[in-house]
Amino acid sequence: MKSFVFYPDREAPISCYFFDLKKFLDDQSLSSFGLMLDDLEKQQVNLRKGIFRKRYILAHGLLRKVLGKSLNKGPEDIVYTRNSYGKPGLEHGGINFNMSHSDDLLLICVSKKYRLGVDLQLHKKIENLDTISEEMFSSAEADFMEQQLTINKYNEFFNMWARKEALLKCLGVGLMHNPKTLETFPQGRRSAGAFTEDKSRLPIQIYYGNIKNILSWSIAFISSL
Ligand SMILES: CC(C)(COP(=O)(O)OP(=O)(O)OC[C@H]1O[C@@H](n2cnc3c(N)ncnc32)[C@H](O)[C@@H]1OP(=O)(O)O)[C@@H](O)C(=O)NCCC(=O)NCCS
Repeated sequence: MKSFVFYPDREAPISCYFFDLKKFLDDQSLSSFGLMLDDLEKQQVNLRKGIFRKRYILAHGLLRKVLGKSLNKGPEDIVYTRNSYGKPGLEHGGINFNMSHSDDLLLICVSKKYRLGVDLQLHKKIENLDTISEEMFSSAEADFMEQQLTINKYNEFFNMWARKEALLKCLGVGLMHNPKTLETFPQGRRSAGAFTEDKSRLPIQIYYGNIKNILSWSIAFISSL
């Protein structure tokens, strides 16, 4: 596990934990993490098979461990709520969190002050890049990406996708909201702004980046106080 901390302001860090699920695929981890899950999580486990089942158990067990440690509780004592789009929160509050997985990789971020949305995108070969771009990005974003394509086609596509999903997850709506109606544009080496279609700036900040041109990550956050 690798962890890192962002300090949007000095008193309110966002702590992030990056896991490689392959390291937890042993029977002991799977059975102990499985025991931590609630009924809804167990239902979800039963809908999955093979590696997808294992990844679900591990991701949700690890999330419980991170939250339990942050709240000084046992992992099995974490009680979730979910908004109408499925975004999980905590019944008794205390901390904001969000997670994202891409194959064996898992990112979990927690913050006392900031409401979060996070996204991970492994750069996979995509045949229908143009169709996805058309569905996900506004025309201004598509123009921006077009300018970047000559530099590295896949990098900017996945960076942009990760920023968009993190933004939609921060708002709690996910892809139930038309992704084209919200825009993100880089505003520095690692940060981006969030805007509505009519270019009004949203009070949501976005950090993003990519690791070795194979993985894009993004964290969108807004003060919850
Ligand atoms: C949220 C969403 C964008 C995630 O897409 P994804 O790229 O497949 O998945 P990620 O790995 O990045 O994130 C998944 C995690 O985000 C969290 N999440 C789920 N819904 C969320 C939402 N609306 N907002 C923010 N986070 C959400 C969960 O922790 C989820 O983990 P789980 O699937 O293991 O339970 C997508 O599932 C979506 O649009 N959901 C909302 C609409 C929907 O289908 N709702 C059905 C339930 S009411």
